[in-house]
Amino acid sequence: MDVGFWTDKGACDDTAAAFLVKMQGKEVFLFGAAGFGGEAAYFEKILKNTLHKLNSSNTIVCTHMCQGKMPMSVRERYEKMLSAPIHAPNLEGMIENFDKAFSHPDETDLIELKNAASK
Ligand SMILES: Cc1cc2nc3c(=O)[nH]c(=O)nc-3n(C[C@H](O)[C@H](O)[C@H](O)COP(=O)(O)O)c2cc1C
Repeated sequence: MDVGFWTDKGACDDTAAAFLVKMQGKEVFLFGAAGFGGEAAYFEKILKNTLHKLNSSNTIVCTHMCQGKMPMSVRERYEKMLSAPIHAPNLEGMIENFDKAFSHPDETDLIELKNAASK
């Protein structure tokens, strides 16, 4: 069974979590999108947190993640924070990541997903 999720606070979203905890004896292809896509290690952490929701009667056939766009309200919030005289040090980097995420999932993400699925 293919299960897709978006990342909410470092793990799958609540709807996906509620679905995953009920699954029994299935072969699972787990696919997720996360706004912060820069590091493979971060994807691994999200997958680990998400796989915890599945009980051991299931078999994980494949896992895959890619970057996904974030709502514009997130960029607006960053911009507002940036305009304050004292603000978080990495806001420019966060805005850069937001803009990078905005075009995802893209063609390459889909090709990588197909490759992962065909393995
Ligand atoms: C409330 C909320 C929490 C989020 N938490 C995270 C997070 O912890 N890590 C992350 O990488 N992205 C986070 N995001 C970004 C989403 O994962 C991103 O928008 C999503 O992957 C897009 O999926 P979609 O293309 O299916 O809409 C969050 C977004 C929202 C709205």
